[in-house]
Amino acid sequence: MIISGKELSARLKTDMRDEVSAFPEKYGRVPHLVVILVGDDPASVSYVTGKAKASEFVGIRNTTVRKPETITEEELLALIRQLNADDTVDGILVQLPLPKHISEAKVIEAIDKSKDVDGFHPLNVAALWQKQPCTLPCTPKGIIKMLKTAGVKIAGKRAVVIGRSNIVGLPVAKLLLDENATVTIAHSKTEDLPALTRQADILVVAIGRPKFVTADMVSDGAVVIDVGVNRDPETGKLCGDVDFAAIEPKASVITPVPGGVGPMTICCLMENTIECFLRRMKPSL
Ligand code: GUN
Repeated sequence: MIISGKELSARLKTDMRDEVSAFPEKYGRVPHLVVILVGDDPASVSYVTGKAKASEFVGIRNTTVRKPETITEEELLALIRQLNADDTVDGILVQLPLPKHISEAKVIEAIDKSKDVDGFHPLNVAALWQKQPCTLPCTPKGIIKMLKTAGVKIAGKRAVVIGRSNIVGLPVAKLLLDENATVTIAHSKTEDLPALTRQADILVVAIGRPKFVTADMVSDGAVVIDVGVNRDPETGKLCGDVDFAAIEPKASVITPVPGGVGPMTICCLMENTIECFLRRMKPSL
């Protein structure tokens, strides 16, 4: 079975649109997401455009602020402080990666935790690992939603996550653990990776290398979640980390690239923005 993140996210966004349409009457306004893009890296421009389009569909107000590559760290931090203090702003997202002269850690920490729609702020990360209420990072949250919607049983299963980034690998491993999977985190230095991945009932790959996962690395009936976004060096087309054509016949469930995890990330960003908005409107939440 191929899980279409595109279809699932379309359904969820339609439900959110209905929910948001009642907000002007209930709360006097709609949620407002501010996305900051520094520079003009084509992949980042495309992600930010996707976020604006989804906001428009759901009925969320989106302001995309574009800054040149030459912006200083202090100028960017000042902009974030201004947005933190702005009561009309519910969510702030700074598109990563940032130019080398700007500290991503400082930028992430500068965003008010209550407006951190990415779930990247150290206080949100700490809350996640301490099982406290928090904003869940969008990609890991989207992956769990896809698994549950596809009817995949997670409890008791062996999950292998390839990749240990703050954005995907580490938090998705934590969410799978919270769903009672037994989780192993592997990475580029893992010895005999195929022997490990062949043990996986659920394999999540977020390493950023085209066709990194080959058919011999996947057992029959495994669930394969491909988080990679790469260019195929031969065709120049968008592709994942998994050799889809070779693995699709073996897997019980697999996500395609494009149209798999990517749309779910954006969908969860919309959900997080609504959550941040509602927490401001209803402080008891
Ligand atoms: N760059 C790649 N993925 C993401 C994401 O989820 N959030 C932000 N802010 N930047 C990214």
